[in-house]
Amino acid sequence: MTNTRVEAYQEFLVRYGGDVFPNLFSSARGTVVKDVEGTEYLDFTSGQMCATIGHNHPAIVEAVQRAGEKAYHFFSGMIPEVVAQLAKVVGEEWMPGDLTRSIFINTGSEATEVALRMAKMYTDGYEVLTLGGSWHGITGGAGSVSMASDRKGYGVPAPGVFVIPEPNAYRPYIPAETAEEAALANLELALKLFDMQSAGRGAAIIAEPVISAGGVLVPPKAFMEALRKAADDRGMLLIFDEAQTAFGRIGTRTGSEYFGVTPDIVTMSKTLGGGLPLAAVATTPEIEDRIHARKFTYYTSHVSDPLPAEVGLAVLRVIEQENLIARANEMGAYLKQGLESIQQRYDVIGDVRGLGLLLGVELVTDRNSRTPAHQLGALTTQKCFERGLSMNIRRRPERGSVWRIAPPLTVTTEEIDRAISILEESLAESLKELPASKAA
Ligand SMILES: Cc1ncc(COP(=O)(O)O)c(C=O)c1O
Repeated sequence: MTNTRVEAYQEFLVRYGGDVFPNLFSSARGTVVKDVEGTEYLDFTSGQMCATIGHNHPAIVEAVQRAGEKAYHFFSGMIPEVVAQLAKVVGEEWMPGDLTRSIFINTGSEATEVALRMAKMYTDGYEVLTLGGSWHGITGGAGSVSMASDRKGYGVPAPGVFVIPEPNAYRPYIPAETAEEAALANLELALKLFDMQSAGRGAAIIAEPVISAGGVLVPPKAFMEALRKAADDRGMLLIFDEAQTAFGRIGTRTGSEYFGVTPDIVTMSKTLGGGLPLAAVATTPEIEDRIHARKFTYYTSHVSDPLPAEVGLAVLRVIEQENLIARANEMGAYLKQGLESIQQRYDVIGDVRGLGLLLGVELVTDRNSRTPAHQLGALTTQKCFERGLSMNIRRRPERGSVWRIAPPLTVTTEEIDRAISILEESLAESLKELPASKAA
């Protein structure tokens, strides 16, 4: 008899962090994932934010099949035809400005490594400015510039990393009349301190267009414009980490398009592979020519692999054919409306924010104190799961308790309605068991 509980396998699995559900899972289609007992859950995290066109979309299944008929893998010096095709589509149709040259690797962390290596080689510098609450990955360089992931216990991070306090309109570090003024005041102070400490070897400023793991924070446009200027003034490159924001999730082609700011390097991952391990980094011919002349390398076993590229091309075609960017806006507005209606009935929902289908809901014990309601968030998330809704909660003492809600762009209004009613029922039940005074 199969044991369907995770504990049964703990003897053989490394526990890699995060909340783990108690059951084992077996299949996924569209917005629905199933466990081995056949119980269905609405997946309002799109897996790990990757399944933007829905789990196991027929176009992805076909693409994997096609790769099986052609090739999964080559010697890294043999560029597959499909990789050349994907590079052309990404460069010509999706990237801002003249970011027409791309490299295709596997994970978001790797994409950050590539971007940092490019910036360091191009500028001959090593100093990197990153935002508080950022998550750019877990590998050496990426972990060094990430402030939302666990940094303690792994030895010495890369030197030369400086933090810009993240622009958080709900919890500003430096309160001001407007969110924009608060964000710009943070930046001004951070740059002053950076200039004071800098060894004059600036390489890059890296930022997520929506600071997702840090609480789904949408910076004011003026802040992103100011980052562009700060990089230019110091001869540094501006990197946008578009792991979550590229290819439609926020209702535009990219975060760069939303802000009207063109960086020098864009990293892409989750939303390109549709659930398979595909990541990419795009930059300009001018940057690529210079680093190539300086012997830039990022040579791995799976760089330019044909299997994920076949899938990436399929994902981009589906986004166009099914009009998913417009759908992200439409369904995003519908979902946000549902969340705001719950907010009107419950004082514990402090803030609803986000863009397109990347939304954040911040839980507080009450709206005056804005004390993060960590216990309430955890209990309600668990109750949602028991009722068939999978959601992700980020709990950080310094940054609040925030649900990150991001279903596939193919989500239907019926699925949203069901999720909203599960959420409201779960919240009501949690509040009966956990008085607001114990919700923190
Ligand atoms: C914005 C962002 N960048 C980079 C990464 C790292 O990607 P991966 O987990 O594929 O290495 C993540 C993952 O959560 C992310 O959200």
